[in-house]
Amino acid sequence: MPVNYMFGSDNHSGVHPDILKAIVSANKGYSIAYGDDEYTKRAVRKFREHFGEDIDVYFVYNGTAANILGLKNIASSFNSIICAETAHLNVHECCGPENFIGCKLVTVPTQDGKLTVDLIKPFVKGFGDQHVAQPRVVSITQPTELGTVYTPAEIRVLADFVHKNGMLLHMDGARLCNASASLKVGLKEITGDVGVDVLSFGGTKNGLMFGEAVVFFDKKLSKDFVFIRKQGMQLASKMRFISTQFETYLSNDLWLRNAEHANRMARLLYEKVKDVPEVKVVQRVESNAVFAVIPRECVSRLQEKYFFHVFDEEGPVVRWMCSFSTTEKDVERFVETVRETLAKKCLG
Ligand SMILES: Cc1ncc(COP(=O)(O)O)c(C=O)c1O
Repeated sequence: MPVNYMFGSDNHSGVHPDILKAIVSANKGYSIAYGDDEYTKRAVRKFREHFGEDIDVYFVYNGTAANILGLKNIASSFNSIICAETAHLNVHECCGPENFIGCKLVTVPTQDGKLTVDLIKPFVKGFGDQHVAQPRVVSITQPTELGTVYTPAEIRVLADFVHKNGMLLHMDGARLCNASASLKVGLKEITGDVGVDVLSFGGTKNGLMFGEAVVFFDKKLSKDFVFIRKQGMQLASKMRFISTQFETYLSNDLWLRNAEHANRMARLLYEKVKDVPEVKVVQRVESNAVFAVIPRECVSRLQEKYFFHVFDEEGPVVRWMCSFSTTEKDVERFVETVRETLAKKCLG
């Protein structure tokens, strides 16, 4: 049986048919380059419908660029950026923030991927001391890299603390739609309305072919972003092909329908897998991922059938992820395979 990739990551899913249709339909004739086109104007309008009239938004190709360039725009090389130890920014961006911004990343251990005021307080210090990296940004991920979700109230508390200290709040929202679907609140209510200053808004993991956005909730903050994006090599010449995807994604609730479905499949996976002997789910299932400890000796056996990431060698903690294209049948077959593989005790 060939290895199945469907629970390895939401990045392993394909492109939603409506998005593909939009790309094909944009592939007609000529259109001005670099974002001065009608597709981009319409996509920006859609962003304003969801995030408010006062935002600025810019498109880039991928999530790493959205994070690093968005942060570069608001932090200098003498600043520190505080994030969870598990943050994508820290673990999976290959020192990109340190390289492109030159800043110090201050990483905070957490139980569930979520920062709190108590956790970050010890690192918010040294203001004005020329010997010390100046705290400038707190970056949170919504949902977190562990699949947990901040409530709007939790974000508000963090934002108030951050602002009181003259800092800014950045959100890595590579999967923001999954958080919105989980909380049953709009995109603006968990971002700009609760004090987020700069947002990386994801599309790829929830049905786009490629394309992410950097959203600024205060236009003063975006003043230099076009230059930073160009220097950062993320200015798409044929921008219409990103823009048309976002226009479609933010229309007719496609973003929400896809995210609700992915979350529902993860919930189903949790319900079915939690009763399998020797599987211990170790994080709350609040978005589209299930984190579980399984017997070490079974990991590679199961990976021969289904690809998945070991998130933490301690445990070991593995991550199973659902997407907009996961089906109930997929979940049932997977859980059956988990059950069979673990029942064999994997003794070679
Ligand atoms: C939370 C989070 N942020 C950012 C990214 C970066 O996305 P990309 O791989 O498109 O650079 C990812 C990718 O998996 C992610 O999980």
